[in-house]
Amino acid sequence: MEKNDVSRKEFLRTAGSVSLFAALGIGFYGCSSSTDAIDGQPPQIPADDGAITITSGGNTITIDLTQTSVANLLSQGGWLLITAANTLIVNTDGENYRSFTSVCTHQGCSTNWQFSNSLFECTCHGSRFDTSGSVVRGPATGNLAEFTVTADGNKITINK
Ligand code: FES
Repeated sequence: MEKNDVSRKEFLRTAGSVSLFAALGIGFYGCSSSTDAIDGQPPQIPADDGAITITSGGNTITIDLTQTSVANLLSQGGWLLITAANTLIVNTDGENYRSFTSVCTHQGCSTNWQFSNSLFECTCHGSRFDTSGSVVRGPATGNLAEFTVTADGNKITINK
């Protein structure tokens, strides 16, 4: 089994860091064309802190909640975009997590996500999805595929 640790040390703060985000495999790409995009930027992920590990060709993701870089996941509305695994995860109610593909069902954008007021928005064209992955605003018409999430103490495992 090949293990690919995608965590990094540097915080990335602007859309101008697109290429660096791509190298890290975690984060956010800014190219919004939506005129009323919700304001919920993905959390900044520092590197090499061991917070996120992706294994099995991207099919299993583990998140170490003891790492400060992912501490937002401990609270309701905390979320991550894990670009290297095309995965979104959100804490829906302070205790439970749901995870979805980050590949938008409209035209396949996978990195332009925001989250606010319990809604994910793909800023490529403004489609919105609720925390069940259901589309609530087009142009997308299909729901996001959901992944299995297991929370065990300070560890979250996502199986795709
Ligand atoms: S690709 Fe997501 S809204 Fe168009």
